[in-house]
Amino acid sequence: MPEADNAEEKSYFEDIPQRNSAFFLKGAGAYDWGMQNRLARVFNPDSGKTVMLAVDHGYFMGPTSGLERIDLKIVPLVPYTDALFCTRGILRSVVPAATRTPNVLRASGGPSILKELSNEQIAMDMEDAVRLNSCGVGVQVFVGGEFETQSINNMTRLVDAGYRVGLPVLGVTAVGKDMVRDAKYFRLATRICAELGAQMVKTYYVPEGFETVTASCPVPIVMAGGKKLPEIDALTMAYRAVQEGAAGVDMGRNIFQSDSPVAMIQAVRKVVHEAMKPEHALELFRTLKSEFTQPVEA
Ligand code: R5P
Repeated sequence: MPEADNAEEKSYFEDIPQRNSAFFLKGAGAYDWGMQNRLARVFNPDSGKTVMLAVDHGYFMGPTSGLERIDLKIVPLVPYTDALFCTRGILRSVVPAATRTPNVLRASGGPSILKELSNEQIAMDMEDAVRLNSCGVGVQVFVGGEFETQSINNMTRLVDAGYRVGLPVLGVTAVGKDMVRDAKYFRLATRICAELGAQMVKTYYVPEGFETVTASCPVPIVMAGGKKLPEIDALTMAYRAVQEGAAGVDMGRNIFQSDSPVAMIQAVRKVVHEAMKPEHALELFRTLKSEFTQPVEA
């Protein structure tokens, strides 16, 4: 027991009202403390943005180019990442538990690239996400796809499970077979995810009207990178997405399939968190690439 506190003078600052500060993230003001705190680990409270690294492709594609050895090629990138988006299998098997980087776990799956991709189911319990100290889970939503309703039902069940433990859900808009990838489609898909409870939404960039996608979605949008582009094009796409309202990126192939992933992720960070112009970020990429040779341990 501590001794009794008999100090005569105490500081109550009676003339200073306690301040209530608004939570920084779009649409997130009404969430409970635990959910806000997890979101504040994914999104940097200073910039309001995130650079998530998506390395979950193996859950339906197997050992994707650049992800053949996640232990050797991706683990060195983790310190430069705001949140690692991966499967629980990869997290447990190769990501050191001593990392300070939060994880967001892929929580849907089922079909491989050999089958109908929209036929996904929930692939993990929320309890396991809590056990793995996750800051969110991600689920694919196939608006316009063959199993549209099933995939939306996967998301809403995860949203309910997430609210029970204070864990946010990332709705990932997958492009349905017969839908055109344009702003009209993404306004529809992202808004459905948000309306049905996703606390954050991942979508692709479109050059025409992306600002209408971010404006009409009441929760933060992060941009998926898509197929590998030349570095300047990927940096330009990330720059435009953020300038047009995205709260950051969740990029995969444009980082891990780059000639220098460790240089590319640092260049993307500058674009996202500091609004560095793409041409300057490309210079930074080239400088870092020339300085850094990624070690591969035998
Ligand atoms: C989506 O289905 C994948 O699981 C990836 O998370 C997503 O495509 C982002 O990666 P990338 O930037 O390579 O498109």
